[in-house]
Amino acid sequence: EAQVEADLDVDIDSESLELITEGTLQVCSDVPYPPFEYFDEDGDVVGFDVDIAQGIADVLGVELEVVQTGFEGIQSGVALNSESCDLAISGMTITEERAGNMLFSEPYLDDNLALMSPVDSEISGLDDLDGVTVGVQADTTGDEYATSEGFETREYPDSGLLLQGLESGQVDAAIGNISILGYQAGENEDFGFDEEIDTGEQLGIAAQSDNQDLIDAVDEILAEMDASGYMDDIEEQWFGD
Ligand code: ARG
Repeated sequence: EAQVEADLDVDIDSESLELITEGTLQVCSDVPYPPFEYFDEDGDVVGFDVDIAQGIADVLGVELEVVQTGFEGIQSGVALNSESCDLAISGMTITEERAGNMLFSEPYLDDNLALMSPVDSEISGLDDLDGVTVGVQADTTGDEYATSEGFETREYPDSGLLLQGLESGQVDAAIGNISILGYQAGENEDFGFDEEIDTGEQLGIAAQSDNQDLIDAVDEILAEMDASGYMDDIEEQWFGD
């Protein structure tokens, strides 16, 4: 893969920032969630979120360590508040409930939900979900949405298992974020993209509730990633548009 060089010109007093381990930025992420975070053939964790995390670590002048963490612990704030990591970067949607347990950055990506099913299925939209089982990743916004709509759901602990469940016919369809389902529909010819669901979701980076300085630094770096074109470059690299 072509690596996008981060050339980020931000002046941050990184000495004054509180990191759990000096010299290292520890970032919690629920892997696999391609193309946000997944293991490549060499076993390295790569993806859109990882490039953002790396850019932040570079500006702060510290090493990046990705701490693989279940999504339940990330979205509840438990992973951050028990000091497993300094930041959570995991394709996580900013919600009011979550914001009660952690600090969010400004949004870094718009990411509605979507419906996907096997190409050869009868399902082509949300109106076709009567009597079928919809797969979701547990504790995600897709899970919450599908449950609130009264769909019959099967919850998977991670997105890799959800996609396997869809592939093997354990579930008839999947609801999740459009960025990942759109990507999967493009990668796997057995999957057909059905419908975008306009939830207005936006993804954010999170820090511990009491680490305002760190989240302020993240916001400054995100702004520079936008201004410098770095964000466009990595969006193009990982989502190809
Ligand atoms: N955006 C969704 C949410 O915040 C799903 C995120 C799942 N992320 C992951 N790395 N598995 O609920």
